[in-house]
Amino acid sequence: MRRKFIAGNWKMNKTVPESVQFARDLVSEIETYTHHDILICVPFTALVPVHDVVKGSNVKLGAQNMHYADSGAYTGEISASMLETAGCDYVIIGHSERRQYFGETNEILNKKMLKVVQTALLPIFCVGEVLEQRKAGDTERVVEEQIRTGLQGLSASDLSKVTIAYEPVWAIGTGETATPDQAEEVHKHIRRVIKNLYDENIANTLRIQYGGSVNPSNTVELLQRADIDGALIGGASLKVESFVEMIKIADRL
Ligand code: 13P
Repeated sequence: MRRKFIAGNWKMNKTVPESVQFARDLVSEIETYTHHDILICVPFTALVPVHDVVKGSNVKLGAQNMHYADSGAYTGEISASMLETAGCDYVIIGHSERRQYFGETNEILNKKMLKVVQTALLPIFCVGEVLEQRKAGDTERVVEEQIRTGLQGLSASDLSKVTIAYEPVWAIGTGETATPDQAEEVHKHIRRVIKNLYDENIANTLRIQYGGSVNPSNTVELLQRADIDGALIGGASLKVESFVEMIKIADRL
């Protein structure tokens, strides 16, 4: 049985005081919702102060990016050990905005994945096609390539640390969600790809989140699908009320 996993990705939003306030409100609202995993991926500047608030609660803490090197002359970057010692449990790797705006290729992301599994951090590895690729019927090939290259060299036990997030780029921040059927189809494909690369047991235990305009009104129909194990939520995770609403929905399923 895969535990449902609801994660907020704040992207480049919220100052330190705003982040701390959000975390306080969230922790006090969700104390009783313990049937699934809850995560907030906050800006780097807010990691330490938010960790102070959420530690000991059922809210996990994540970062949105990480460099593959241990340390060195990489101005503006952040390492795994910096994230670990800031209190992070998770890190998002390969978000489409990193791929799109910051030139992160499947090969670079593979280096990050190979690094992260050597640490205590748990990666959420993002995949997803752009609109032209979907229109061209290329979705499955693109997602498969992202997974094959991105996860190359990871062992079966490394895979047990990984969550995959399927985020169709055309559905991110657009208000246009993939239909539950569209999402489920790709999630099934991802599980098939993992089964071929590893084995059936690993494919069946892997958690796959959907991301792309998830909000309180579409959470139920998405999360009811057999292969959708949670959500990676952008815009609708920025307000405590709507984030909590989605957490409550996941807890009832
Ligand atoms: P939105 O929920 O704002 O579409 O963002 C999705 C996303 O990119 C989460 O990582």
